[in-house]
Amino acid sequence: MAMNADLPELVRVAHERAEEVGFDYSCDPDVGQLLAVLAARVPEGGRILEIGTGLGARVGWLVSGLGPRTDVTVTTIESDPERAGLAAQGWPEFVDPRVGDAAVELAHGSGVILATAR
Ligand SMILES: C[S@@+](CC[C@H](N)C(=O)[O-])C[C@H]1O[C@@H](n2cnc3c(N)ncnc32)[C@H](O)[C@@H]1O
Repeated sequence: MAMNADLPELVRVAHERAEEVGFDYSCDPDVGQLLAVLAARVPEGGRILEIGTGLGARVGWLVSGLGPRTDVTVTTIESDPERAGLAAQGWPEFVDPRVGDAAVELAHGSGVILATAR
């Protein structure tokens, strides 16, 4: 993995959170960089739905790909309450972190699935 210092700030913070609690499933930087490119291409006013927040690395990549844009909503859902709580803070206002089972959330209708739990 790239050195944490080379990562976008929000990704770096997420990896630090993950290391603190021994969470080994954070998004690899190569995948994260691809997601960042895809996020940059989301149409104006678009919505991104991530299933499985973990400690927030993938959200960090998605946000980094958006750069200065604030027109996109990023909803991220985590079923584990402890992880969701740890990853709930520090995001721009257009990030909507939720706790719950994505299957239940999706039953209420959400947005574009760009990143899934596994
Ligand atoms: C591989 S980890 C995600 C890593 C995270 N996206 C990242 O990049 O750091 C998968 C996460 O999905 C969560 N998860 C699994 N099934 C879920 C579901 N049905 N709804 C919401 N979250 C779920 C797990 O608790 C776990 O934290």
